[in-house]
Amino acid sequence: MKLRLGVLISGRGSNLQALIDACRDPDFPAEVALVISNKADAGGLARATAAGIPSLVLKPKDFADKPAHEAAMTAALEQAGVGLVCLAGFMRLLTGGFVAHWHDRLINIHPSLLPSFPGIDTHARALAAGVRFHGCTVHYVREVMDEGPIIVQAAVPVLTGDTPDDLAARVLVQEHQAYPLAVRLIGEGRVRVEGAVAHIEGAALPAPVICPVASSL
Ligand code: GRF
Repeated sequence: MKLRLGVLISGRGSNLQALIDACRDPDFPAEVALVISNKADAGGLARATAAGIPSLVLKPKDFADKPAHEAAMTAALEQAGVGLVCLAGFMRLLTGGFVAHWHDRLINIHPSLLPSFPGIDTHARALAAGVRFHGCTVHYVREVMDEGPIIVQAAVPVLTGDTPDDLAARVLVQEHQAYPLAVRLIGEGRVRVEGAVAHIEGAALPAPVICPVASSL
């Protein structure tokens, strides 16, 4: 049986789209069962509808408090038989209660090479720091924001003259590869969390790259 995904969004949903597209492959071990948005105008909702995937808008202000909002999300996810919750541009901090309930069944994509640049404005901050590489991280969610065992990372070079938008666009291409890869590894049962580290069975180490490339200097 396929791993059933619940995808939480707040905006345009391009990572949701990457997951939807990956799930079209009959060999992919997961399927999107439910999309939940905390915003009624999230562009990702139309993507769910176009793919025939049930979606739900649960606005925090319609609930007494944060735990009540999260309880409604958990109830809907469990009703849909969700086994893995994927945060995909979900712009709300989750309480420790929600994170504990979904422990090791809750993952996030973040647009930086964690643990560098947690939080917002990662691309501008990477440029300001003068790093040579930037990228994205898919990780299990823990109570501290943008912290948790890393499943997949993808790096891109920072190029001379990059604006934050240039860098964001370069990273986003990698996000759309990294998120489905992380879900596939989990769906195949190849990810084992041990303390702060997620081990991947059968993963080969990539060749090292140094930027700027040493031979070009
Ligand atoms: C992505 O950059 C993701 O890494 C971050 O929020 C953005 C969401 O983009 N968490 P989208 O809604 O998936 O297009």
